[in-house]
Amino acid sequence: MAVSSLVTILSFLFLVSSNLAADSDMLQDICVADLNVGVRVNGFACKPAATVTEADFFFQGLAKPGAATNTTMGSLVTAANVEKIPGLNTLGVSMSRVDYAPGGLNPPHTHPRATEIVFVLEGTLDVGFITTANKLIAKTITKGDVFVFPRGLVHFQKNNADVPAAALAAFNSQLPGTQSLAATLFAATPSVPDHVLTKAFQIGTKEVEKIKSRLQPKK
Ligand code: GLV
Ligand code: MN
Repeated sequence: MAVSSLVTILSFLFLVSSNLAADSDMLQDICVADLNVGVRVNGFACKPAATVTEADFFFQGLAKPGAATNTTMGSLVTAANVEKIPGLNTLGVSMSRVDYAPGGLNPPHTHPRATEIVFVLEGTLDVGFITTANKLIAKTITKGDVFVFPRGLVHFQKNNADVPAAALAAFNSQLPGTQSLAATLFAATPSVPDHVLTKAFQIGTKEVEKIKSRLQPKK
């Protein structure tokens, strides 16, 4: 094979693999986030190594169930990402715990920067994601089961039982980002214009306003 063809193929493979990767590879052992530095490139600035302690790699926030019953949807996501664990900066992983009240829904949402894998801690969940070909991949999963939501695809979990449920989620990003579809469209600031939403959803202005008022963050 000519050297130029080999170089082209290798360059293509490099481009494909770097585009498919989640967070960028790290260039040092640790880069504990200094969350107070405003300047960001791709992640957070590293704090001086001399000030790093074990506390930068530790978090107890997932130990106890979150108060899911107090939320509009009956679910509560507690994140363990770089904003809570500064030592995760540049490591490309994070977790969250999701608690579901009976009937609770973690509404349809996407993570633009990560694939998610969930492990059911307690209870039973109806889960699913939708592919870009609009195919729903759904299943009922129960304690000890694992399910995967591919990066960027819309997914949800619903606890249809009359007892609480809980799951642990892992992500291949230090900060996966979450866009919850209903809140993104109906509770953005500034507001998405009514005429965009009436046309997109084929409904009237009154209905749009009603949904907007229901999805306003509670004060
Ligand atoms: C569940 O889907 C989560 O994002 O925590
Ligand atoms: Mn998710």
